[in-house]
Amino acid sequence: MRTLDDATRLAYLKEMGITLWYQRGVPADDAVPEALPPAESLSQAISPDTSPSETVSPVSFVQADKTPSADVPDTAAWDQLLDEINHCQNCHLCQTRNRIVPGVGDRNADWLFVGEGPGYFEDQQGEPFVGRSGKLLDNMLAGMLLKRGSNVYIANIVKCRASEAGKDRQPTEEESAICMPFLERQIALIKPKIIVALGKTAATALLNTSRENSLSSMRRKIHYYQSGDRQIPLVITYHPSYLLRTPQGKQQAWEDLCMAMETLENSGV
Ligand code: URA
Repeated sequence: MRTLDDATRLAYLKEMGITLWYQRGVPADDAVPEALPPAESLSQAISPDTSPSETVSPVSFVQADKTPSADVPDTAAWDQLLDEINHCQNCHLCQTRNRIVPGVGDRNADWLFVGEGPGYFEDQQGEPFVGRSGKLLDNMLAGMLLKRGSNVYIANIVKCRASEAGKDRQPTEEESAICMPFLERQIALIKPKIIVALGKTAATALLNTSRENSLSSMRRKIHYYQSGDRQIPLVITYHPSYLLRTPQGKQQAWEDLCMAMETLENSGV
């Protein structure tokens, strides 16, 4: 078991537009639950950034440490896959890319976060989510007691930057479909216990569904991603770039992340 220092967690959650959730009238010593509270109590406990802290006891956020898995990442298969990604010329994005961005993190992670595709900064550095949206993603992870590289893998649907007139753009459905087999192989190797799709491009590509669907119609439910004979729970939330433009969506995003934590907690795997 590990708890996140309250002040640190407050700072991360504040970044998400959320103040600490409170359990009224419970002595602090008793306030550490053995497991995450049920989703309803989590979302009820989310208070807007403006609420006063009052004289209530903060609930420590507790999550079981990852049990070392018997699964040893398949190095040869990873080497083969990364070699293919790094030399990919399957679509025209290879002509304008600076760096390929295969993904980053723990190859044995429980958590897989999937974005859309690299932007300018990711294309420069070869790592996903290193720009402003990456900082927000890191804060979202920290609020969940997670950290880039530790029990978390971060990848994108498309591995090369899509741009137009020097500006980042959404990858087309064709570009996404061409690149998707790489992510499918990454998922088969990582065997995550839960996938969080960040935004509509990721959600629709992972679910092989139409981009006509609105993100709000896809949120707030557990989907499943089929990887071989495994059904991996998939939760959909807003893309961090959207949240930077629309901070009022952060509370809903936090509810999605709480649902994902609850799902993993209850999955018993
Ligand atoms: N947006 C994404 O979807 N992915 C990144 O890696 C960076 C920004």
